Formats: sequence, structure tokens, C-alpha cells
Amino acid sequence: MLKAKVAFNQKEGGEYYLLGLKLDKNFIKSFLPGQFLKIRISLNFDPLIPRPFTIHAVEKDKLLVLYRVVGKGTQLLSKILPGEELEIIGPLGKPFPEIKEPYLICAGGAGIAGFGYLLQKTNNFPLKIFYGAKTKEELVRLFFYEKFGVPLILVTEDGSYGKKGLVTQVLEEELNNKKSKASSLVLLACGPPLMLKSILEIAKKHQLKTFLVLETFLACGTGFCKGCVIPLKKGGYSYLCVDGPTFLADEVDFEKFFS
Ligand SMILES: Cc1cc2nc3c(=O)[nH]c(=O)nc-3n(C[C@H](O)[C@H](O)[C@H](O)COP(=O)(O)OP(=O)(O)OC[C@H]3O[C@@H](n4cnc5c(N)ncnc54)[C@H](O)[C@@H]3O)c2cc1C
Ligand code: FES
Repeated sequence: MLKAKVAFNQKEGGEYYLLGLKLDKNFIKSFLPGQFLKIRISLNFDPLIPRPFTIHAVEKDKLLVLYRVVGKGTQLLSKILPGEELEIIGPLGKPFPEIKEPYLICAGGAGIAGFGYLLQKTNNFPLKIFYGAKTKEELVRLFFYEKFGVPLILVTEDGSYGKKGLVTQVLEEELNNKKSKASSLVLLACGPPLMLKSILEIAKKHQLKTFLVLETFLACGTGFCKGCVIPLKKGGYSYLCVDGPTFLADEVDFEKFFS
């Protein structure tokens, strides 16, 4: 475990917070887009298990994490003040696969977090980013994503900003539009399970090579406990913490994964 000083931990909107961790620049460089770190949130061992978060962005000597408060650990994390220290482990997992084809990103809720660092590092920008949330206030860090010049298609479930509906519906409308059809188009998506299920249907219908960023409960985070199994179509398992979190959709047995 490595100690990281908290530079800032600010509310962004809705239940989202942006955490800046001050770290050695060379250590920061060892993180690649798509990888994650685990943060030990409480020194009292409650919650006991460090929580995983993807790398949202890098800002000079700071590693940025964008997180949503969902339970005890993230609630405690949101109370951490600048100057305090957190223990972290990383980099963990595999980076995003290198995509050479034109591609689209689709993100729902906290699923947007990891694509920030991808945009900072990539030479192959996505054609468009579809980003959906429940409400306007949960669409966070828009100024950050906009500065890369990639069209950002914003969607809210209540229609309070951008297009109204589900981000997957808007993605599908786009794919139904002949102009953006391309046989080599790739899809990269991250979001809650229901969104991923829709993405799988869309990918099948439009025959798109698709990468999904998956989440499971993680314990050790290092391949030791075998607790984060991802069932494979060919039989056997991969482990999210060492082989993921991004998987080629065709390789995963989603019937077992979602059951
Ligand atoms: C590789 C990876 C990267 C992640 N990156 C981010 C990120 O960048 N930003 C972000 O906001 N979140 C991210 N998450 C999810 C984040 O780790 C969880 O939200 C967090 O651990 C919840 O901790 P908690 O103590 O607040 O909630 P808990 O009290 O542990 O759980 C609260 C609720 O959330 C559910 N939950 C907890 N963990 C997960 C999970 N992994 N998947 C689905 N449901 C879960 C529980 O079932 C429960 O209903 C990531 C998860 C993984 C596996
Ligand atoms: S969390 Fe232990 S093997 Fe993945």
C-alpha cells in the first residue's frame, strides 16, 4: 500500500465527487487508461476491503478519481479532507485495448469516469461519446470532456438536459442513421448492468465489435482470491481484477455473468 495525500475532494454534482491524489509523477506514469486503483478508505478497517476506482484523469502530479457515493465506503470517502492521507494500491488490471478502428464510446452514470484518461492519452479519438445520466446535475465534468473536441452526445432520463431518454436509445438512433454506419465500427461501453444488457443487444443487431468495462465485487484485486470471476463462452473464467475490467463482449458468457 502506498500513501497518497489528498489534494482535493470536491463535489461535482449529484452524488459525484472528484478526488485528487498527490503522488510521485513517475508512479502516476505507471497507470494506463482503463486501469484502476484500490483505495483503503478507513484506517479502522471498516469498511475492511479497499474500494476499486478507475483512473479518471491525470493532472500534473495528481491522479484524479471521479466517484459516485453509493454506500458506506464512498460516503466515508466523500468526507475526506484535503491534506489527509489515503492508502492506495495500483495500478491494477489491464488497460483499455488499443482500438485502431473508428469507435464510439457509450457511458452511463459513473461509467464515464475512466474515459477521461483515455482521451488524455489516446492518438485515436472516438468519433462520438454518448454520455447518459438520470438528471442534468448527474452529468458531471462536461467542461473536461468537451475540451477534447470529440462530439459529446448528452442524454438525461428526465430530459432536464440534452436528449431525453436512455443513452442506449440515443446510441441506437445514431446507429440506425445510415450516415454513421461503418462495418469496422467498434463500441466501447461502461455503465450499470441494465445499460450493458442493452449495449449487448445493440451490438448484436448492428454486428459491432464491442468492448465492455465490467464491474464485480473485488476483494484482493490481485488475482489471488479468485473472487471476481468473469465466465467465458469458451468455458472457464477470467478474473476481472487481472484480466479486466475491459472485456471483448463476444468472449464473455453474459447469461452466467448477469445471473
Ligand atoms: C474495476 C472497478 C472500477 C471502478 N471504478 C469506479 C469509478 O471510477 N467511479 C465510481 O464511482 N465507481 C467505480 N467503481 C464502483 C465502486 O468501486 C463502488 O461503487 C464502490 O466500491 C462502492 O463502495 P461503497 O462502500 O460505497 O458501497 P457498498 O456499501 O460496498 O455498496 C453499496 C451498493 O453498491 C453496490 N456495489 C458496490 N460495489 C459495486 C460494484 N463494484 N459493482 C456494482 N455494484 C456495486 C452494492 O451491491 C450495494 O448495493 C468501480 C468498480 C470496479 C470493480
Ligand atoms: S479480486 Fe481477488 S482475484 Fe480478483
